[in-house]
Amino acid sequence: MLLPLLLPVIFLLYLRYDPKKQAPGDVDDLKVYPLVGRFPHFVKNQHRLVEWSVHVARRSPTHTTTFKVVGMPGVVLTANPDNLEHIAKTNFSNYPKGEYMLTKIEDFLGRGIFCSDGDQWLWQRKAASFEFSKRSQRKFVVDAVGSELVDHLLPLLDQAARHGRTLDMQHVFECFSFDNICRTAFGEDPACLAAADEGSTTPPEKREAIEFMRAFDYVQNAILVRFVPPESMLWRVKKALNMPPEKQIREALDTVLGYADRIVRRCKERGEADPGSRGDFLAHFAASGARELTDDNLRDVVTNFLLAGRDTTAAAMTWFFWLVSGRPDVEDKIVHEVHRFRRIHGPTGSTTFSLDELREMHYIHAAITESMRLYPPVPQGMHVSKGDDVLPDGTFVGKGWAVNHSLYAMARLEELWGKDCEEFRPERWLREDGTFQPESPFKNPVFHAGPRMCLGKEMAYIQMKSVVACAFERFSFRYLGGEEHPGMEISFLLRMKGGLPMQVTKRQPGPLEGF
Ligand code: HEM
Ligand SMILES: *[C@@H]1O[C@H](CO)[C@@H](O)[C@H](O)[C@H]1NC(C)=O
Ligand SMILES: *[C@@H]1O[C@H](CO)[C@@H](O)[C@H](O)[C@H]1NC(C)=O
Repeated sequence: MLLPLLLPVIFLLYLRYDPKKQAPGDVDDLKVYPLVGRFPHFVKNQHRLVEWSVHVARRSPTHTTTFKVVGMPGVVLTANPDNLEHIAKTNFSNYPKGEYMLTKIEDFLGRGIFCSDGDQWLWQRKAASFEFSKRSQRKFVVDAVGSELVDHLLPLLDQAARHGRTLDMQHVFECFSFDNICRTAFGEDPACLAAADEGSTTPPEKREAIEFMRAFDYVQNAILVRFVPPESMLWRVKKALNMPPEKQIREALDTVLGYADRIVRRCKERGEADPGSRGDFLAHFAASGARELTDDNLRDVVTNFLLAGRDTTAAAMTWFFWLVSGRPDVEDKIVHEVHRFRRIHGPTGSTTFSLDELREMHYIHAAITESMRLYPPVPQGMHVSKGDDVLPDGTFVGKGWAVNHSLYAMARLEELWGKDCEEFRPERWLREDGTFQPESPFKNPVFHAGPRMCLGKEMAYIQMKSVVACAFERFSFRYLGGEEHPGMEISFLLRMKGGLPMQVTKRQPGPLEGF
């Protein structure tokens, strides 16, 4: 490892670097230094990697840049759809997630579907795909989301509107999607959202679930230090010696894994008591007999699906509500679409919408898709190359190098999306007749692409469209965070720094209300 020797060099270069002295062009040019290459630019921009990736992508004709320090594996940062197709599909077997990352999160996520490669991944993928493809599963998801909306989310918004209370909508969405994924995937309702409502008192049996959610949040963020130097070199020692922050991580992990084990146990008990009533995914998985599943495997299912399915939808909703709050024209069209359904289908007495109705909401689908294009919940992906390879644009990738793709940068390339690439324009996704027109997943890899594409895409859309349709039908939302663009938090996911403070007001009755 040459890095320790090079750190002083990097540090000196870093001190000499004064962004004010440089012409704007220089920043984009990413000057190459002896031995450390472009690495100092990366260090300099550690605090804003997501935004910086846009500059990096725009400066290269093929939107691909290599960072290479002598003696260390290189990192290729790309925003090129052809390169992505190569790593995600064409040469899939050469680009696993890689042990570098997996060993750092193993004590949290085990070797679940999200954190495994090769055969270990494949059998889990097969078993999970089978469950996700069932129509009964979709119906189950629609019903579960509907109950969460009617029982918890809409009453919470109603209360806030009535009392003029400001809500942190990011927190609300995180609680909502936590409850929702627990319900659909594990057949439990931890009711964390009810606890987010300050007016209510928390029953003791729910405190456990809230503690679990807090500990899960903590681990998810704290574990990221293992990726940042110098902690990336020290964390194993600190873990062995039970030193902070590893000590705190271990304590939080005890809470997380203990609760996940209890979810598995309760799920098995329910299954034994009433084998016919299984609706949730975990129960199906346990009973599928895809392989002799140990309780540890099932615990990994719990943590992996929570990670994959929870904050992703919450992040998507957070940016969506912020974007729409600045665009009354988009809001009007959303409300118009919802009202049209109420008119067509008449007063069915149902507060929520059916699967078929949700499917036909093309404008809302386009608006959510456009919002995720600009603010992808997973803003960057990483793969590690097993052997020497050459990407379609000619970039060399050495054995053991990382290839990262930036979704955030891809969305901001004129070449891909046109001159208005930075504009929030749902119509981009609509055909002349108003129906939704999908794009290649390599150009818009919000749910990734190829064999490891997201399994929960349809489930996520059901959830997000239900929330948007039901919430905007009844309420309007005003952003209270000021004129500036909200900050982005550095994490696996694109969270909004400081939350999303919003004022909720009841909308004037629509054409059919009280009909
Ligand atoms: C807006 C919401 C969502 C977005 C943007 C999203 C995005 C993604 C992305 C980018 C990946 C690939 C990540 C990687 O390989 O590093 C992924 C994988 C995955 N997602 Fe989602 N996801 C969402 C919701 C969900 C939901 C609701 C579920 C279901 C519980 C889910 C289940 C999964 C699973 C199981 C994988 C791993 C697939 C594999 O490795 O074979 N996702 N998702
Ligand atoms: C895939 O990667 C390997 C390196 O492990 C390389 O030898 C091979 O040529 C690549 N295959 C394709 C189709 O590019
Ligand atoms: C590549 O991705 C890894 C994992 O997300 C991250 O730690 C690293 O900073 C990324 N590098 C670049 C140059 O974006």
